[in-house]
Amino acid sequence: MPLRIGVPKEPAAGERRVALVPETAARLVKGGIEVLIEKGAGLRASYPDKSYEEAGAGFAGDRAELFAKTDLVVQVGPPTPEDARSYEKPGGILISLVYPGRNLDAVRAMNEAKLTVFAMDLMPRISRAQAMDVLSSQATAAGYRAALLAAELSPRFLPMLTTAFGTIRPAKVLVCGAGVAGLMAIATFRRLGAMVEAYDVRAAAAEQVQSLGAKFLAPPVEASGSGGYARELTEEERAKQRELLSSAVAAADAVVTAANVPGKKAPLIITREMLRRMRPAAVVVDAAAESGGNCESTKPGSRVEENGVIIVGPTNLPGELAHHSSYMYSKNVEAFLKILIGPDGRVVPPEQDEILGATLLCGAGSLKHGPTRELLEVR
Ligand SMILES: NC(=O)c1ccc[n+]([C@@H]2O[C@H](COP(=O)([O-])OP(=O)(O)OC[C@H]3O[C@@H](n4cnc5c(N)ncnc54)[C@H](O)[C@@H]3O)[C@@H](O)[C@H]2O)c1
Repeated sequence: MPLRIGVPKEPAAGERRVALVPETAARLVKGGIEVLIEKGAGLRASYPDKSYEEAGAGFAGDRAELFAKTDLVVQVGPPTPEDARSYEKPGGILISLVYPGRNLDAVRAMNEAKLTVFAMDLMPRISRAQAMDVLSSQATAAGYRAALLAAELSPRFLPMLTTAFGTIRPAKVLVCGAGVAGLMAIATFRRLGAMVEAYDVRAAAAEQVQSLGAKFLAPPVEASGSGGYARELTEEERAKQRELLSSAVAAADAVVTAANVPGKKAPLIITREMLRRMRPAAVVVDAAAESGGNCESTKPGSRVEENGVIIVGPTNLPGELAHHSSYMYSKNVEAFLKILIGPDGRVVPPEQDEILGATLLCGAGSLKHGPTRELLEVR
């Protein structure tokens, strides 16, 4: 019997992405895998049922049928606890973004349902896993959307304009956190003609920032942690950072923040005090809202105004670019499936591959990911 892969409609309200796009489905079908789509799963990402039909995929009328008929389910967002329970079946496999630290109830339910779960967000940043790096693919989309959102909310032009009716100076933009999302925001702002300054606690980000034509604000303290990521700052270091950034924030027409420290709440960078010094109608797009936000006034999922400054904290920026975010996620999953499914069409035991081992969250009723196990024990 060929392996059957199921693609449900995303369980989270407002999630527009789909885990497999028709192009990937066609290649899987060509490779001898059956692909079953829940009707309408790709619609909100502009992939109609017809395009899956042309790719050779089959359809399931609802989630229950889809789960019952497939060996492996691929999702974008983490399942709800009910979702996880409904998928209980011997040997059932789920591939999804999970963010276990934020979704412990779902993790518990998946573990109790004895599901084998591969969390794409646990993908190691090693070169062999580059094609599967969902954090980078979705951060690329997030950074692009964040810059466009800032441009959209701002009542100002971003480029310099010299016209018969006056000269407009280019907008000043500040990007805090020059990781994958931040760099994409910088590149997008530059294409729109803004003058861009960027800040990161990793001095190594300077070269990347400058290569995009932006000015790098050197950190007062170097805070590279393990694996090329940033570490958390001490209170004293945070004070130095506030001092450095205060005038850059005050001078900015728009700020995008995209700073994160793996496994921690997003660092606080823009304080209320800094916001008070910003000019009227300045815009702050907090692209770290989902992990707690970089701005003191951010309300995740909402727009607030303080002293005329607009602050937004979108919680699913990649979902706002659903067509291409889904395309990239689908390519990530396809690369992962090439490792997970052996040449004989069977699932490879996770202990046989470093990437499978690193992403395995739980299996056969036991939690395999140490940090998540600790979090659940603490609770
Ligand atoms: N395959 C690979 O090897 C690979 C792939 C992607 C990214 N990376 C590297 O991983 C690193 C982080 O990438 P990411 O975007 O996923 O990171 P991330 O989402 O964890 O963080 C985003 C950025 O926020 C910065 N930051 C953290 N605390 C800050 C603070 N207090 N003030 C300002 N900035 C702060 C970080 O230094 C990082 O650049 C980068 O060095 C990137 O080049 C490697």
